[in-house]
Amino acid sequence: MKISQALSVTLHDYVPRAGDMRSEILGGLSANPKTLPSKYFYDERGSKLFDAICELPEYYLTRTELAIMQASAADMANVLGPRVLLVEPGSGTSAKTRLLLDKLHWPCAYVPVDISREHLITAADRLNRQYPALEVLPVHADFSQRFALPVPRLPAACTVIYFPGSTIGNFEPDAAVALLKQLQQLAGRKGAMLIGVDLNKDRTVLEAAYNDAAGVTAAFNLNLLTRLNRELQGDFNLERFQHRALYNSAEGRIEMHLVSLADQSVHIAGETVRFGAGEPIVTEYSYKHTLPGFTALAAQAGWSVRKIWTDEQRWFSVQYLTAD
Ligand code: AVJ
Repeated sequence: MKISQALSVTLHDYVPRAGDMRSEILGGLSANPKTLPSKYFYDERGSKLFDAICELPEYYLTRTELAIMQASAADMANVLGPRVLLVEPGSGTSAKTRLLLDKLHWPCAYVPVDISREHLITAADRLNRQYPALEVLPVHADFSQRFALPVPRLPAACTVIYFPGSTIGNFEPDAAVALLKQLQQLAGRKGAMLIGVDLNKDRTVLEAAYNDAAGVTAAFNLNLLTRLNRELQGDFNLERFQHRALYNSAEGRIEMHLVSLADQSVHIAGETVRFGAGEPIVTEYSYKHTLPGFTALAAQAGWSVRKIWTDEQRWFSVQYLTAD
């Protein structure tokens, strides 16, 4: 870990080991079916495209969760209590966090954790200026790997993991349980979590959210190949792959694919990968939970669901979990 000064904030940097990305990508491309880890969507352009997705009329998740936060952040703050150390894995622009920070009682520090370094620094710097009384301690890390919490100046009454955006939906059940366990270790004995969980609903609503008319999600998906071309010396021809998103009702998840439009060979990181016409690369799963289903998943990781806030249509939920 490296500590450096960036703009107005001190950055705790868990520089990923060189070769991690290469082996994860090549591992995924030699699996059957081929997969690419969705965390690699978030390079600079990918992070911007994701922010654009959040504004799309079809992408109900962000809008619905923001509305839940607007209606209930004060109630959430009361439940969380005073002098919270707030940790946010995958913080992005921290848009929802502001709604919570505005209501929290004397929060002691905010720790945004993100894989996108530039995005993280910009967001942390902005927060640092907007909340002068709040200590902002950004951590540049892949939150699915281990990292340590920076120690705040003021002692915290309790560590709260704020995990909005239904990011947990990107993890298959076993991996979700492992991640929830790891976050519990991070939060400690008296730890709590406030987590955004997308809920199961009509297939047409779900599929539209991942097949927007403006094509932003398609650009976001294909940008993964652009990144691989740049960072791993790939030669993916973007005209020969197509975005597809389908709801798999048996598994309760949206599946995003990049479908090869031809029989083709692609070179990447010194290796050759063969694709058949119509062959998909799975780039993302986005699980849509039921309320009892998520309670059971959390319980497997030792978390108890204590309170649930949801919208009128029950499309999205924000849930308060404690470790005991
Ligand atoms: C931020 C991971 C929750 O799964 O809905 C949006 C990412 N992918 N559109 C999601 C995403 C395609 C998003 N998460």
